[in-house]
Amino acid sequence: MPDTQRPVLPGFDPFSQEFLADPAAVLRRAQDEEPVFYFPELNYWVVTRFDDVERVISDFETFSSVAIAVLPVPQDMHDRVPPDFYERSFIASDPPVHTISRKAANTAFKRSRVDHMEEEIRGLCNELIDGFAARGSADLMEEFAYPLAIRTLARLIGLPDGPQDVAEYQRWAPDLVAVLTPKFPPLPDGSPAPATPMEPAELRERYERIATARAFFQRLVDEREREPKQDLLSSMLHAEGDEEGGRALPQALVITHMVELITAGSATTANLIGHALKFLGETPGALAALAADPSLVDNAVEEALRRRASTFGIFRKATRDVEIRGVMIPEGSLIWAAYAATGHDPDRFTDSERFDIHRPNAGQHLNFGKGRHFCMGAPLARLESATAVRTLLERLPDLDVPAGQEVEYAPSLIVPELLHLEGRWSAA
Ligand code: HEM
Repeated sequence: MPDTQRPVLPGFDPFSQEFLADPAAVLRRAQDEEPVFYFPELNYWVVTRFDDVERVISDFETFSSVAIAVLPVPQDMHDRVPPDFYERSFIASDPPVHTISRKAANTAFKRSRVDHMEEEIRGLCNELIDGFAARGSADLMEEFAYPLAIRTLARLIGLPDGPQDVAEYQRWAPDLVAVLTPKFPPLPDGSPAPATPMEPAELRERYERIATARAFFQRLVDEREREPKQDLLSSMLHAEGDEEGGRALPQALVITHMVELITAGSATTANLIGHALKFLGETPGALAALAADPSLVDNAVEEALRRRASTFGIFRKATRDVEIRGVMIPEGSLIWAAYAATGHDPDRFTDSERFDIHRPNAGQHLNFGKGRHFCMGAPLARLESATAVRTLLERLPDLDVPAGQEVEYAPSLIVPELLHLEGRWSAA
């Protein structure tokens, strides 16, 4: 198809700090002007309307999840990080591969009794707040949201969570996010597709940490083989396959899924906590309203996720020529299902850029996905984010998150991570 027949959105730049800080206005413009458009610089299509995103993420036969890979692992590291280690991850696989892993994981999540983790999460929040309460200010991302997300995952999976261990996970959790790359097809003129750029030295450094993480998980897997515990790692490892006495998942795949869980559940949840606090700080009276009536917190958190998706978008690959909203997308194309746009669809949400803690349909967003890839951690992320906001307000009732502070994001097409957020209160 010649480029002239592909609708484009002038000015679309997914890596600009302006877009990363708040993509709503640009994506709203797309919904009105070019709801399905082509982004020639990176050779992918963008789908922005709620119904279209829902269709793309639900129909795996037409829109395959085998659309994400990792940047090439340096040759001399293949014995420590297999070059295809991500092929069978949850988010990059379709049935039947996906079905086997997902079945084992669903059972493991049920056994881990996420809904009973509230007390434990509150304890972690209090411990973190104890570390900075007397100071009167803190970086709420670095000192609160991010370590909380990592430590909660450590508890869920069954990882040691001493300060040194947590510092270690915090070092390598962003690495997998950084090496993820869409599987770009060749450009229309046949030239090779652009890869997400990364300097070789940085790539090596990141893979060194991923190798450390895999080795760490291998040791834990060996321990759980000898002595299973009541944790998610043991449940996944010992999940039964279809054949009698057989395992559902080989050890190496359990390790991939463990690393994946930490990456899928850390920046996403930290972002939600951060954005909830940021929107509350920017909305006059909102923090005080929640401090006075904590029962409003759950809806406020949901509204924060609707207003600003943690997962900006996800890639799928067209398995055939397919028409979406009158635009023909050729077989093999990469499609970015823009989750970040769906909370702003005018057919679903009125005055969508307004953050409204009382919005009656705040929870009717798509930001945990839908269908067979629906977020496995959604109940945990909801519980954790609400508990985080509630505990902060209990402990620091005059918390202020100054509006207009400059924020910075780590660029990513999947989960751009909010790096810092200042909070202030009167110290005791
Ligand atoms: C606010 C926090 C979170 C958000 C917004 C979020 C969002 C999402 C979204 C949109 C997907 C679907 C991806 C797709 O369509 O392919 C997803 C999948 C997933 N999420 Fe989350 N997530 C969050 C927290 C978590 C947590 C805490 C965990 C782990 C405990 C987790 C684990 C996963 C996993 C394993 C998948 C892959 C599921 C599959 O492909 O079958 N997420 N998440």
